[in-house]
Amino acid sequence: MTGPSILVVGSVNLDLVASGAPLPRPGETVIGARLERHPGGKGANQALALARLGGAVRLWARTGADPFADEALALLRAAGVDLSLVAQLGDAHTGVALISVSPEGENQITVASGANSRGSPDDLPPTIEDALLCQLECPVDLVAAAVARARGFVALNLAPFGPIPDACIERADLVVVNALEAEALGPRAARIGGALVITAGAGRVRMMRGGVMSAEVEPPRIKAVDTTGAGDVFTAGLLLALLEGRDDAAALAFACAAAALAATRPGAQTACPDRAEVDAFLTGANG
Ligand code: RIB
Repeated sequence: MTGPSILVVGSVNLDLVASGAPLPRPGETVIGARLERHPGGKGANQALALARLGGAVRLWARTGADPFADEALALLRAAGVDLSLVAQLGDAHTGVALISVSPEGENQITVASGANSRGSPDDLPPTIEDALLCQLECPVDLVAAAVARARGFVALNLAPFGPIPDACIERADLVVVNALEAEALGPRAARIGGALVITAGAGRVRMMRGGVMSAEVEPPRIKAVDTTGAGDVFTAGLLLALLEGRDDAAALAFACAAAALAATRPGAQTACPDRAEVDAFLTGANG
């Protein structure tokens, strides 16, 4: 792979997906779903998407030493993601996400983090020369240490939202959030050193630099089958496009196309498109 070199510090999960039944309300039991299992985890999903879209990707992650780990890492291996920084811990289980997907493609996700919550800053490389991408499914001190060691482009996807030191968002060249996460970030958004991108599901995606809008894009209209992981594909596509030197509007359009394709298929990693598909989709949309 000859594309931009990126280190993803993030989570690996096995997704246990119950789809086709309405989402339960608190205290409610619904029946009639079908069960699938897919590799997932925001870190792993973003690493896979970067690789399929043309990046040279290393993943830093922790799994259990259990059969779920092999299943969770299978697609990353097949896509050529460098897994030499993934360690299997004997005393923790591989992360598991329990996911319900409604007939309309909406989801609910509960994560049992297991080994994802066990990473320590001591285990990170002392310096990170590649571009760095982190999410918040791992301990925040690990994310903060990775950001502090980064020498290149730093991208943060603040999902799921949680406490994040000012130093991280000040250092970030790119921060990606959805509308709820943007609300949680609040006025601290003004401290972001680089671009802030706010997604809105099927609504317009906005990129801000220094509080000023630099680009706004309407995502392609698609029939969503399963939106799980579409945000991960968006983040990966956006990072890659910016690293490749696309301007803000073109980078957003590339990311939206990749995410739209992902939402038309079931699963997180199983739904992730490759570069040729995204290029063909964009050519079709523009031509
Ligand atoms: O972003 C989607 C991911 O969130 C799923 O793959 C699941 O594992 C949870 O981490």
